[in-house]
Amino acid sequence: MLEIKSLSKSFYSGSGKKRVILDELNLTVNDGESVAIVGPSGSGKTTLLNMVGALDHPDAGEVLLDGESVFSKNEKQLAEFRNQSIGFVFQLHHLLPQLNLVENILLPVIARQKKVDDPSRQRAETLTQKLGIRELQNQKPGELSGGECQRTAVARALINQPKIVLADEPTGALDQHSSDQLADLLLQLNKEEKTSLIVVTHSMSLASKMDKIYQLENGKLQLVQS
Ligand SMILES: Nc1ncnc2c1ncn2[C@@H]1O[C@H](COP(=O)(O)OP(=O)(O)O)[C@@H](O)[C@H]1O
Ligand SMILES: [Mg+2]
Repeated sequence: MLEIKSLSKSFYSGSGKKRVILDELNLTVNDGESVAIVGPSGSGKTTLLNMVGALDHPDAGEVLLDGESVFSKNEKQLAEFRNQSIGFVFQLHHLLPQLNLVENILLPVIARQKKVDDPSRQRAETLTQKLGIRELQNQKPGELSGGECQRTAVARALINQPKIVLADEPTGALDQHSSDQLADLLLQLNKEEKTSLIVVTHSMSLASKMDKIYQLENGKLQLVQS
């Protein structure tokens, strides 16, 4: 279970004026649950995901995963946490252009244990199969469509069997068809892999597929649908 407790974050503008982005925000995400976060541009959605993924530190408050405080970890433990407990999917896939698709998917495995073993190879096979990109595994990102790259990014996010997948506008750069396809796959994998899923999105068709929808406004989350 993920618990976000009284999380606060402010930024200072160029003129030194303080802007509160997250204001004692609370959220609980149960194991296997899928949650959409919607809200206007600039409302702090990315800031919130970055905190959950320990890519940034809050000013105050806690993020607990299975009761364990994320921000009490040292740098080495944080790197492990990001690699093993969290899967990230961004709006742009961030695949490495010189590596083929399966090599990209296996990067978090190499980061974890230096070399790729048979179970990891097997898992990459299973994921590419489920995501419909198995035949493309020797291709490089430059040879793939946006949707195919994004499905590869989903496989990479899931390769280390994380507890939570964080997706920041994962369909934001895709056409309607690829977007719907990715949304369905994210949900299907969320159920099959029993990972929790937090998706930031502007797409109501994606948001409405999740168990719950929260709106981020004025630094707090409001439940709008469950
Ligand atoms: N590192 C930063 N320094 C200063 N301001 C930032 C920083 N990161 C984000 N912001 C500001 O915080 C607000 C929320 O940003 P963000 O979380 O990216 O919003 P969203 O993802 O909802 O569009 C924006 O006004 C943005 O300019
Ligand atoms: Mg954002």
